[in-house]
Amino acid sequence: MNYKILVLPGDGIGKEVIPETLKILTLLEDLFEAFSFNFTELEIGGQHWLETGEEAPADLIDVAKKNDAVFFGGVGWPKAVYPDGNLVGIKTLLKLRFDLDLYANIRPVKLYPGVDIPVKGKKPAEIDFVVVRENTEGLYVQVGGELKRGSKKEEAVDVRIITRKGCERIIEKAFQVSLKRKGAPLDGKKRVTIVDKSNVLKGCLFFRETFKEVGKKYPNVEKNFSYVDAWTIQVIKSPEKFDVVVTTNMFGDIITDLASVLQGGLGLAPSGNIGDKHAMFEPVHGTAPDIYGKHIANPLASVLSAKLMIEWLAEQRNDRELEKGGELIEEAVAQQLKKGKVRTPDLGGMAKTEDVINNLKEIIKYLYRKQK
Ligand code: IPM
Ligand code: MG
Repeated sequence: MNYKILVLPGDGIGKEVIPETLKILTLLEDLFEAFSFNFTELEIGGQHWLETGEEAPADLIDVAKKNDAVFFGGVGWPKAVYPDGNLVGIKTLLKLRFDLDLYANIRPVKLYPGVDIPVKGKKPAEIDFVVVRENTEGLYVQVGGELKRGSKKEEAVDVRIITRKGCERIIEKAFQVSLKRKGAPLDGKKRVTIVDKSNVLKGCLFFRETFKEVGKKYPNVEKNFSYVDAWTIQVIKSPEKFDVVVTTNMFGDIITDLASVLQGGLGLAPSGNIGDKHAMFEPVHGTAPDIYGKHIANPLASVLSAKLMIEWLAEQRNDRELEKGGELIEEAVAQQLKKGKVRTPDLGGMAKTEDVINNLKEIIKYLYRKQK
């Protein structure tokens, strides 16, 4: 089977990790003859805007819809700022999320053996949960405005929109994700934890009420309730309690950066923006202008995002061979991290982005031959 992938490396280290990750996908299509990829690459983002005056091609969404999935690097570049102060590129990212209706931002948090984290005493077997972040509403709708009196800004307002449809579908998704998993590391129980601030915010209260309603359909999944402030403590002290965590857009943005510390940092944090028809996969890390050009960015967040993409595509088309390819990627990443020889500076090593990919290719070839 053939899969059409729209590739959008974007800015900064996106331009480094995404092309390197494509080498892994190309290796897979060479090994497995049952599937192949067709990549279409487009330039978007701040650096592209500085060169051309254009943030993204006008037909970007149409092109995305014609592909089977989107593979995205990151957007945002320090000097690329519109006269109104907005960073170039963010609009394009949000447009992709909104116009493709990618309502679920799935962010797995998993600690692989061999990776050191600053939290004492927590072992890989204790850290394995998934954050399901609402991705199309909340504070990200960009409804609001500014009040200027004379030449000075006096007020700014951001409106947070929480709808019944938005709550229902993200909560459903969270329960569905839990059904497919093995439960929380602590006790093997399937458990969905809602993270909100319903003791203060109306939108959060609505989100929580909807959670209770939808939750009735899933008697075999435990429901757990947590205020976002308290959750930041629980996740560091007892991450093993968590299986699936569901939350609103802005909180999801913040808590997944926090949670990435439990998996070895942003260099290892993948994500999938998923809707009913389309999906886009991206490393959580962003563009890291401070290290761009040095070729030391960790490509594993991007590789693990590609693995999520493959898993999703395989499920769409019921493609068992492609699914095996995804499993091979994850096994190879796990082995590489366990051996600990080839790693980028964020993980305490001295390897370059390319070294990590070359080594990963060798491990994949080895594992593939062993399987045969
Ligand atoms: C993320 C990023 C984005 C977000 C930014 C770049 C708009 O931080 O994917 O977490 O806030 O969603
Ligand atoms: Mg973020």
